[in-house]
Amino acid sequence: MTGRPPKGKLLGVVAMDGPSGTGKSTVSRRFARDGGAAYLDTGAMYRAVTLAVLRAGLPADASTDAVLAVARAARLRSGTDPCAPHIELDGEDVEAEIRGGEVTRAVSVVSAVPAVRRLLVQRQRDLIADALVETGGAVVEGRDIGSVVLPDAPLKVYLTAPAEVRAARRAAQDRKAGRIADLDAVLADVRRRDELDSTRATSPLHAAPDAVVLDTDGLSVDAVLARLTELSHERGLLT
Ligand code: DC
Repeated sequence: MTGRPPKGKLLGVVAMDGPSGTGKSTVSRRFARDGGAAYLDTGAMYRAVTLAVLRAGLPADASTDAVLAVARAARLRSGTDPCAPHIELDGEDVEAEIRGGEVTRAVSVVSAVPAVRRLLVQRQRDLIADALVETGGAVVEGRDIGSVVLPDAPLKVYLTAPAEVRAARRAAQDRKAGRIADLDAVLADVRRRDELDSTRATSPLHAAPDAVVLDTDGLSVDAVLARLTELSHERGLLT
């Protein structure tokens, strides 16, 4: 397979789901960029709400009412430009801070709160609708995009890879970003988050029945992009 970019413009929505470390963000951003489409990182929204909860001095497992009140009050602004993804919380760019250890450890607990999910799913749908008016196409990444946020998406892809492979990728990313990364600790965190994300009562992580499942173990980013290009052509999403 070659890494040729999409020939033409992406029209419509591609839902990209799967656990962390599957290459989802890299692939989603590049595919959106190459197709002249918008890009939405829904994980960043759950991370930003988690940061707001921590900044409010609450533990991640505070009462639902307390967490929801913070989530409602948090002013989030999500950029949808794949070349410059960023998220603001109350007017401050928090793109770097939401990737740190404190937020990463707490985010699965906050994102399991059903009322927080309802709030963010609605905001995600609004953002996607706006982006579609502006650019005509969007790549949206998360855990429940194909199953809950956009059940009618014309292309749903679920990326997967063994936990060890995903942990090694995450550790490499952390080191590149200047964060300390102990492989055993990262693997333990990946397994803990997989468990929490896939066993929560509301919108657990799972592939939608009509999603195309792609195991990215041993596949380069270019190879995954080539497969997405193929699938988008098949579904008539690339002009
Ligand atoms: O993709 P990420 O690692 O930045 O996501 C952070 C957390 O947010 C992850 O533990 C699961 C949660 N999440 C979610 O529950 N639903 C989404 N659509 C996106 C992320």
